Amino acid sequence: MTQAPGSECPFKGLSSYPIPRDPACPFEPPATITRLRHEHPVSKVRLWDGNEVWLLTRMSDVRAMLGDDRFSSQSVHEHFPTWSAAIKAQKTTNTSFLRKDKPEHSYERKLWQAFFAPANIAALRPEIQGLVDHAIDQMIAAGKPVDLCRTLALAVPTGVISKLLGIPESDMPFIQNVGTTRTGINSTPQAVQKSLTDLHAYWMKRIQERLTNPGDDLISKLITEEVKTGHTTAENLASMSILVLLAGFGTTADMIAMSTLVLLQNPQTLAKLKADASRTPAILDEILRYTSIAQHGLARVALEDIEIGGQLIRAGEGVVANLASANRDEEFFSNPDRFDDERESRFHVAFGSGSHVCIGAPLARAELQIVIDTLFRRLPDLRLAVPMDAVKYRLEHLFFGVDELLVEW
Ligand code: HEM
Repeated sequence: MTQAPGSECPFKGLSSYPIPRDPACPFEPPATITRLRHEHPVSKVRLWDGNEVWLLTRMSDVRAMLGDDRFSSQSVHEHFPTWSAAIKAQKTTNTSFLRKDKPEHSYERKLWQAFFAPANIAALRPEIQGLVDHAIDQMIAAGKPVDLCRTLALAVPTGVISKLLGIPESDMPFIQNVGTTRTGINSTPQAVQKSLTDLHAYWMKRIQERLTNPGDDLISKLITEEVKTGHTTAENLASMSILVLLAGFGTTADMIAMSTLVLLQNPQTLAKLKADASRTPAILDEILRYTSIAQHGLARVALEDIEIGGQLIRAGEGVVANLASANRDEEFFSNPDRFDDERESRFHVAFGSGSHVCIGAPLARAELQIVIDTLFRRLPDLRLAVPMDAVKYRLEHLFFGVDELLVEW
């Protein structure tokens, strides 16, 4: 017997999870989630494979859980929450630091931390600006209407990450395909395994090349300092590089498209941004809060009995922190369902929280800001080429977003 998403389980009264957003109001978290936050902020839900896990919907509980190292990020735990068979298939193969706990997590994350430090990102800005200008030139040359997702939203973060990691642009379509297969809720486990195995083999080849012929890039530095000294293996460096690579472009591309769309829906906000570019970062943070694209939330497993929000969570039980719900928590943000460009939003959890908080957030923020400011400066009359209600949203995918955004100017 299949159960409609979000409906009450006839046997145990549990909601099934994840719950897709309502196509009639795609920017709102599903009504069931809001109801749970009000009535049962820490509640059990049932996942696609029968795994019953705790769902946290309040900001205070989400932050408490993500900030507590007694909750593990390792997906090998039996009750680690997953959203589909394809994602479950990565339980044992995903050996990157995203799925590790301290001390390994802290050690490996630190290897990349300097790379994403604000000073380093500031130095990258001229390069990002060049990529943005080039993508907008291409958009204009293509002629209107044009799909903003393909020409701009995906092109910029793909260009940035390929430059940072020293990957030829010509290899990026292959990498984009792996990214789409990996996060697609309908991808088969076999397809996911194959695409990740192919990417690992590709990356091992690149590491071997640099072992004999090092360059002045970050990967060559990590090979010299970590692999050659025996602190880490080439396999592990490949896993870390794949994490940074795959985490880096799809999410940012989705946020570029979402930010454009939300601004076109809110002409007064757009006018403020055009009049004063110093407001862009704060407006983008409100868009990050409001859209919360990591829509199903973050998964963990309790390593011991822990109380969260007055509820005892037993060792071994799975827990999901629903970021989108936390970002709409009325105890934290007043009038949270309103998009408010005057709001102080930067304490949202769209980038997660705690020791695994997004390491790429400074880069994502820089890319978003440069893209949005440049786009509306160069094409001030930019508008949708289709009616707003004809835009199709990804409602069930791991990341909320759009696959196509036709625009003209
Ligand atoms: C707007 C775009 C982005 C969003 C919404 C986003 C969201 C997130 C979230 C929610 C997490 C936490 C995962 C967890 O705790 O389980 C995370 C972690 C991570 N993100 Fe991002 N991200 C974005 C952009 C980027 C970029 C540009 C990069 C790198 C180029 C990146 C690299 C990573 C990495 C490596 C982690 C794992 C950190 C760790 O486990 O310590 N992300 N991201």
